[in-house]
Amino acid sequence: MAFPPGFLDEIRARVPVSDVVGRSVKLTKKGREYLGLCPFHNEKTPSFTVNDDKGFYHCFGCGAHGDVFRFITEQHGLSFLEAVEQTAREAGLAMPEQTSDDAARAEQSRRLTDLMQAAADWFASRLADEGGRAARAYIEKRQMTPQTRQAFALGYAPESRQRLRQAMTAKGWRDGDLVDVGLAILPEDGGEPYDRFRGRLMFPIRDRQGRCIAFGGRALSKDAKAKYLNSPETTLFHKGRTLYNIDQARKPAYDTGQIIVCEGYMDVIALAQAGFPGSVAPLGTALTEEQLKILWRMVDEPILCFDGDKAGLRAARRALERSLPLLSAGKSLRFALLPEGKDPDDLLRDEGKAAFDAVLESSLPLADMLWNSALDQADLSTPERKAALERDVMVQVSQIGDQSVKTLYQSDMRSRLRTLFYGRKEAAPRSKRQSYGRWEPPKRASQYLKSSNLARSDSAQSVGERIVLATLLNHPSLLISHLETLVNLIPSRNDIQTAFESVLSAAPALEGVDSQAQKNTLRASLPSGLAAALDRDIFIRSLSFTRADAETWRAEAGLDHTLALLRRVTVLEEECEAAERALMEMDEPASTQAFAKLSALREEIAQQNRELSQFDRGLLDQPGKEARPE
Ligand code: UTP
Ligand code: MN
Repeated sequence: MAFPPGFLDEIRARVPVSDVVGRSVKLTKKGREYLGLCPFHNEKTPSFTVNDDKGFYHCFGCGAHGDVFRFITEQHGLSFLEAVEQTAREAGLAMPEQTSDDAARAEQSRRLTDLMQAAADWFASRLADEGGRAARAYIEKRQMTPQTRQAFALGYAPESRQRLRQAMTAKGWRDGDLVDVGLAILPEDGGEPYDRFRGRLMFPIRDRQGRCIAFGGRALSKDAKAKYLNSPETTLFHKGRTLYNIDQARKPAYDTGQIIVCEGYMDVIALAQAGFPGSVAPLGTALTEEQLKILWRMVDEPILCFDGDKAGLRAARRALERSLPLLSAGKSLRFALLPEGKDPDDLLRDEGKAAFDAVLESSLPLADMLWNSALDQADLSTPERKAALERDVMVQVSQIGDQSVKTLYQSDMRSRLRTLFYGRKEAAPRSKRQSYGRWEPPKRASQYLKSSNLARSDSAQSVGERIVLATLLNHPSLLISHLETLVNLIPSRNDIQTAFESVLSAAPALEGVDSQAQKNTLRASLPSGLAAALDRDIFIRSLSFTRADAETWRAEAGLDHTLALLRRVTVLEEECEAAERALMEMDEPASTQAFAKLSALREEIAQQNRELSQFDRGLLDQPGKEARPE
């Protein structure tokens, strides 16, 4: 649904981020910001900040960043629309009127879910009455309790082509509606519509809000053509965006941080009955991207549980491949493989809950799964075959979309390959390689790197930090107003660290003296020669806001901007370092890739400095603020 312009901003303005975040994170006020332990990654010292003025939270540790809506969707597993509804209520705002199209569509789908509910009720009554005897016996044989039958609203579709249709039309529903929701089939030869589900145990499929949107039906007779028959895609039901039992699994999953994804209806039901209410299943297809995203909104690492047969393993590999482009910091998968020939339902029935606990316990992280399945088919008898394994692993890893996750996977897989090939963790002995007589090996990318102009003389991070220092020296009042932020800065080099410490400890001495005296105090506090060196720095001097003759508002804008860039650059430099490490360890083909990546990162860092110059020029172009009181 489209919101009128300004509606979301109005909510952002009325609902402080700190209020919403504060319900699940303990926040302490630090100046204009709040500080707490980041809920998006594990940490012991707080690096998670909330700024109500800006309407954002930001974690300096893991980079998590967003507004109220983002926080609610990521932390509480709600959809964007639900987050808007919840916050609009808090803000005392009515949800905007829908357009007549939206309203008509909403009305139509409400009508159709009513029909689905009527059908579900009718199926449930058929299960309870005389004709449902065999179906009830089957349920008993599968050891489902009456509570379970209730919770999953099971039903029975009698062996008949017209009974559901008659019952529904008697209640006033039209054939067209029955066909639209997939309950009836319209024969192509123009005959009467007839019931799709016949002689089947019925499983209502519900959406996140618990509305019935489709059915799965299990054949009761052994010679039915399909064991399971599902509703077709309809305006209510999109298989790839739905998970069976999502409505009941959502809360337990969110509360416990665990969600189990298994393959079948019966498995979900058996799991729930055995005490694993946070269980869902896709609907007879491989997990889709959309389903993965839904899962990740609830928990960080859904556990995918696959049957212990060939098909199960294949499905696990497919899920793994599909997930690679979508991985991000903190968001991954675990893989649980059941004992040979069993599904969760079998295992629970035969061996009880403890056996399933053990399966979960031994579930593999995605990295292990990737490694194991590559190794599974590998042959290591010749160098070429080893190379093929290496290539296969690296090709898989290259599918990972998130840069920093990818880099970490590359070095993780490298080290596994080394251990496998050479039997120990360290790199292959270099000295041996260099002892092939007078023959010179081809230059490796890392050697090109050393001689290229990409080589780092001065990191962008330290440049940024020196810009901050220079600005503070010329505008001491900013040191006092930015104390909190500056205290939290972790400089990249020891000498800069020392400089910051000196400046910060001089801060109390700035109170109550004039600006010239403040400047003298600060300069005197620095290690000898540094102030002069900053004065001479050509790049710093080119930025007008750093200079003593800049108005305070310009200096402050420049300082804020530099601090923001510094945060970004810190992340980029970490990625660079990882890429560099990978590069040093790699052989030729993969190195080319790592080299390209490193170049791209360096380019982005260089871009940050250009961006600073542009920003500065932009500042100079802004006239008329001189009159602003300071
Ligand atoms: P399974 O054959 O593993 O079913 O199919 P199950 O859940 O273990 O069922 P029981 O124990 O034999 O009763 C797993 C899932 O694949 C889909 C269904 O969603 C099923 O739950 N499926 C299976 C179909 O859509 N059609 C079929 O014919 C079979
Ligand atoms: Mn089964």
